[in-house]
Amino acid sequence: EKRKIGVIVGSLREGSFNKSIAKKLASQLPENYEAEFLEIGQLPFYNEDLDAGTDVPKEWEDFRVKVKAMDAYLFVTPEYNRSMPAVLKNALDVASRPYGENVWSGKTAAVISASPGATGGFGANHHLRQSLVFLNVITMQQPEAYLGNVTSFINEDGSITSERTVPFLQSIIDGFVALTEQFYK
Ligand code: FNR
Repeated sequence: EKRKIGVIVGSLREGSFNKSIAKKLASQLPENYEAEFLEIGQLPFYNEDLDAGTDVPKEWEDFRVKVKAMDAYLFVTPEYNRSMPAVLKNALDVASRPYGENVWSGKTAAVISASPGATGGFGANHHLRQSLVFLNVITMQQPEAYLGNVTSFINEDGSITSERTVPFLQSIIDGFVALTEQFYK
């Protein structure tokens, strides 16, 4: 049986650099790993009132089922104002509730951030890690992945042009796979 990896991209932008990096990372997974991109842009903003009633949004229910079905997650995100984009935080919140039914819990993950700026989304990366601690997601510590100056190694069509970047991304995947295999041993 294949390991199911949920890939979550923190950008809704058509030409997102993070989406391109996520696609590359997914292509570097081993044979027995299966990547599924989990969409988050359709999720209504989290509101506890809706979970308390009978009209829980269908989008939340579908997303929770998908998140629960995964063995591990790859988060690939830009930085918005030194934090993670609201759409990504909302997705974390939606699948963490109703209370006691956090479906992220007890899975492994890797966090990758990318930016045209020099700091490579460090702020987003670590704010996301902070939430993942509380959500009980076992997050890879090393190697860390802050991909700065992305316009210097990604083309308009999303292809990666730097010879250094591809093996670096592979090292992220190798660490993520090693952590996940150890966890499920
Ligand atoms: C940004 N951007 C940005 N970049 C960064 O390195 N640090 C930051 O704090 C911010 N803040 C920020 C806020 C908002 C609201 C936007 C829209 C953008 C720039 C951002 O890195 C750039 O737009 C990336 O291209 C976004 O990632 P994708 O969409 O290419 O994956």
